[in-house]
Amino acid sequence: MFKTKRIRSLDGEPLRAKDNVPPADLPTQVQVDGRPLTLRARYDLLLNKPLGVVTAHQDNLHPTAYALLSEAPLFKELRAVGRLDKETSGLLMWTTDGTLLHRITHPRYAVPRTYHVALERPPAPLPEGLTLKDGYAPEITEYAQRDPQSLHPALHRPDEARSFASITITTGRFHEVRRIFAALDSHVVGLARVSFGPVELPTDLAAGAFSPYDLKAAFAGMHPRPK
Ligand code: URA
Repeated sequence: MFKTKRIRSLDGEPLRAKDNVPPADLPTQVQVDGRPLTLRARYDLLLNKPLGVVTAHQDNLHPTAYALLSEAPLFKELRAVGRLDKETSGLLMWTTDGTLLHRITHPRYAVPRTYHVALERPPAPLPEGLTLKDGYAPEITEYAQRDPQSLHPALHRPDEARSFASITITTGRFHEVRRIFAALDSHVVGLARVSFGPVELPTDLAAGAFSPYDLKAAFAGMHPRPK
């Protein structure tokens, strides 16, 4: 392809196979047969995960969140940053950067995740140190009752919802938010993640849509907790 001059710079100069692009110069654009092509070393995005899809690359029973990204650059290398339940909507970040993914999700970094919650009945007051049935004590850094009009549009609010809240936790245990509200004698009927560390789910990103986002820059100032 190089010999036949099919690959050119944007201003039309034929590129040679030995014209290496230093990683620091990526992303950059070239033309292949006159069509623009972006060369990238990495890619990150935000997905507004809809209800009913699982956070998986493959699943025999359910549609996957991954399948919604098939048009994304570097699709094959994208990995989800944490998981959301099938019946949770909202912010699901994806990256090709395994090191960054590991840091963002590692408990030592204690990255806060905020959820908006629809409840079947008002929860009991949150006690000082809440312990779940299995003995686990979630770290809840913010908690508030909410007016329906202050909630993110990504939250599904079924008719049976009688109470609304927002909650911020620093871990991502299995069914953690659902189990917290079960311990408060309530029941979650709608759950949406609206932020993860410094990243907020844009209110105009439609369910099932994704948008590019530089997670490396967003999490650049993140430090682990001292041991
Ligand atoms: N907590 C839950 O219960 N479910 C999620 O999907 C995320 C947090």
